[in-house]
Amino acid sequence: MFFVKELVESGCLTSVPSKYILKNTDSDDHCILVKEPEPIPTIDFSLLTSPDPHQRSKIVTELGNACLEWGFFMVINHEVPKTLRDEMIRETESFFDLRGEEKRQYTGKKLFDPIRCGTSFNPMVDKALLWRDYLKVHVHPHFNAPNKPSGFSKILQEYCKKTREMASELLKGISESLGLEQSYINEKMAVESSYSHQLFVANMYPPCPQPELSMGLPPHSDHGLLTILMQNELVGLQVMHNGKWIPINPLPNSFLVNTGDHMEILTNGKYKSVVHRAVVNNKATRISIGTAHGPPLDTVVSPAPELVADHVGQAYLGIKYREYLELQQSKTLNGKSCLDHLR
Ligand code: SIN
Ligand code: FE2
Repeated sequence: MFFVKELVESGCLTSVPSKYILKNTDSDDHCILVKEPEPIPTIDFSLLTSPDPHQRSKIVTELGNACLEWGFFMVINHEVPKTLRDEMIRETESFFDLRGEEKRQYTGKKLFDPIRCGTSFNPMVDKALLWRDYLKVHVHPHFNAPNKPSGFSKILQEYCKKTREMASELLKGISESLGLEQSYINEKMAVESSYSHQLFVANMYPPCPQPELSMGLPPHSDHGLLTILMQNELVGLQVMHNGKWIPINPLPNSFLVNTGDHMEILTNGKYKSVVHRAVVNNKATRISIGTAHGPPLDTVVSPAPELVADHVGQAYLGIKYREYLELQQSKTLNGKSCLDHLR
């Protein structure tokens, strides 16, 4: 198996090898791409922890509107130190810089193996290969980390702890925005327990000679309750909003947060998971680092009874988080096809 990074570094690529070319029918979703990035909702995290009840209720309303209208929002004034973010990106770059054979010990692994490294999404079923290399680590409830580069493990542990704290604070605000007790989602989904699941995913998209022919990540929605993403400040992520692709311009030192499929299930469809994709460019290597926050793997997620209106009924079947992940991994990454199985 070759990483895209190796392919790019092996010589002067002037065109995309055919197996990385997405045919129109694979990627063309007939949606308009908006040229200018549109500002998406911004959540000032410091107000979520404000002792002033007016400030808090204002930000909870904003958070609820962001979940309802976009499913994506930018988080500023958060509690993750800039130095930690920078170190996490640097360590990730150093990981991808390891020689091919050092990374290959983590290739060919299965979904629940602690550390997986590879390219594309699922080369067994993908119609075309994706222009991305990835590292995926199950970091909670059991912490795992690659043993090289030497500083990676310590930074990863700190970074994942901080993002878990951010997720539970956001989930308190989201619970409140739904008219529930602050602790509702955290308790029901055991997010603050020592069993909750957190997956670290680092994506690397090397420069691509013909970016319009290939794709970093095809349109998909994320599993889990929330994904917290940071990027190395290069555009590439596009979000589906009102039938149009909106490119996202990351604000410096911000996180991009989106609601996942399990938030959609839990809220009986009120807060939807939103389809997004990552396009590639021909200039620089883009890195994105996401953490997916979910319940313990053996928790069955089904709509919260409090959110199921009598006249609507339960819109999704319950499913164990673990089984949902298996279902998603067995298929091509494709829009919300996995969630559609539960309707
Ligand atoms: C993702 O969808 O998980 C990451 C997309 C990105 O690279 O921004
Ligand atoms: Fe995603």
